[in-house]
Parts: sequence; C-alpha cells; structure tokens
Amino acid sequence: MTKISILEQLKQADAEGYAIPHFNYSDIWDMTAIVRAAEEMHSPVMLAGVPKVTNALTMDTVAAMAHSLADNAKVPVYLHLDHSTDPQICKDACDHHFDTVMIDGSKESLERNIEMTADVVSYAHPRGIFVEGEIGKIKGNTEESQYANGDFLVQVPDAVKLVQSTGVDILAVGIGTAHGFYQGKPEINFQRLAEVNEALSIPLVLHGGTGIPAEDVRKAIKNGINKVNVGTIIKYTYLSSVFETLKRVGPTIHTIDLMLPAVEAIKEEVKRWIAVCMSDGKACLLYTSP
Ligand code: 13P
Repeated sequence: MTKISILEQLKQADAEGYAIPHFNYSDIWDMTAIVRAAEEMHSPVMLAGVPKVTNALTMDTVAAMAHSLADNAKVPVYLHLDHSTDPQICKDACDHHFDTVMIDGSKESLERNIEMTADVVSYAHPRGIFVEGEIGKIKGNTEESQYANGDFLVQVPDAVKLVQSTGVDILAVGIGTAHGFYQGKPEINFQRLAEVNEALSIPLVLHGGTGIPAEDVRKAIKNGINKVNVGTIIKYTYLSSVFETLKRVGPTIHTIDLMLPAVEAIKEEVKRWIAVCMSDGKACLLYTSP
C-alpha cells in the first residue's frame, strides 16, 4: 500500500475546503493514540516530532516507531519534523525518510531565513521530501509582550521573497496565533492571511492550534489554511490522564494500565480536532496492485 504525497493531500484539502491535522507527540503512546483516532475518523494525519523529542529518544528510534505505525495504518500517516532551527536536524530527518521537515528561520533576518531554508530545500528535494518554512512569528506565551505593534505578523512581500528564492513547499505564517495556552482570546489577522494566500499558491499552515475556537480554525481554513498544528493540548491531555490515574491508584499499577486510559483520552481530543479540521472521511490511499 502506498499513499499519495503530503503535497497532493494538502492540495486536495485546499480544493475541498478542509485542513490536514498535524499533532505533536512525545512518545509511542501518544503517537499510537493519534494514529488510532485518525483511523477511526478515516482522516489523513501528520505525526509531528519536535527536536526536543527526536534528540531525547534519538532520530533512529523516533523514526522507527513512526514508520512502523504509518506503514501499518489504515489511513495515510505522514512523518513530519516540526520547528527545527537547525538545518542539520532537518537533514537527519530526511535521511530517516520523513515526508516533510520544517526549517524555522523565522527568528532570523529574512536573508538568513532564506539561506537556511534554501539549504534544507536543496537537501530535501532530491530525496523526494517536502519542506515547510516559516515567515512572520508564531508567538509563545512568554514572548507576547516582545512583539509590539503586530511585528510578529507575516509581511506579504517577505513571504513571496522567501518562497520564490527557496522553492519551499509549505509555509507557516505568523497571523497572531501562539504556541501554548492562550492568555486571552487569540486575535487572528484573517485579512493578512487572505492577502498571503492571494499572493502565494503553496499550502499555508496555522500554528498554535490549542485554544483557538473551532469557528476561528474554520474561518482560517476558508481564508487559505491547509494544515492545522496542534501540540499543547495533546501533552496536557496525556499528562492529566497519567496524573489522575496515579493519584487514584498509586505507582504500584502496571505501566500499561496507566497508559491505556491516557491513549483513550488523547484519542478523543485528536478526534475532536479532526472534526474541527473537517478532514474526517478524507483518507485517500493509493493501492498498488498485488
Ligand atoms: P500548540 O502547542 O499551541 O497547539 O501549537 C502547536 C504547534 O503549532 C506546533 O508546531
């Protein structure tokens, strides 16, 4: 069984008005929950590892776990490296046959961002791997005050220049969303999103999914978003379940009996997000003839 490429999936999502959901994992348990939820909802899904995880567990181990789940899944599961600021880690993920790698040069100057992104593209493309770049800034809770006057917002000419000079395939755009839990209601600049979408023909990504109301996620999809990234709530759901079980029964429990309720809890959260992204029922597999 082979799957259509992630770029084809994203284009299909664009044509049909839904988004491909991306979920960050920490280990095999939440990875498993994400894949099971996608299967139950018949949705394509992106399994996203951040360098903190791939460094701690090793790229070899993470790739082996993710490939094994993807190869045996009943829906298309794509391996993605998320938010690497280091081109070398992107190249390592390419060598481990990820489908996509993200090089995040958004905190650098535009020139340096272009240089880093072009470097990763030149390594990834000959290997058939797609690259996500970032322009504008995705805020973090602790950084919010640093970005006065909307200077985290993507500038349309910068986005065009990054794409034209690097050949990057997918673009994360700073439109007011933040990683982590929001302190107030997220203020998304839909106007700027629509302008970037008008200027570019590549798939756009909404980062900082946790805490964005469903109606705003859908409005973003309408205005050009093709991929929605969700991380914090997965971790929070996972750890809350483990915490509650341990509080109730103590640490003499078998690890499996601690983890299975966590898998169920994560699955429910993932299914909720798949419904928000409207990707349920959109799994499309290509079967090779026997
Ligand atoms: P959250 O952790 O805010 O859901 O954002 C995830 C993300 O954007 C990963 O790239």
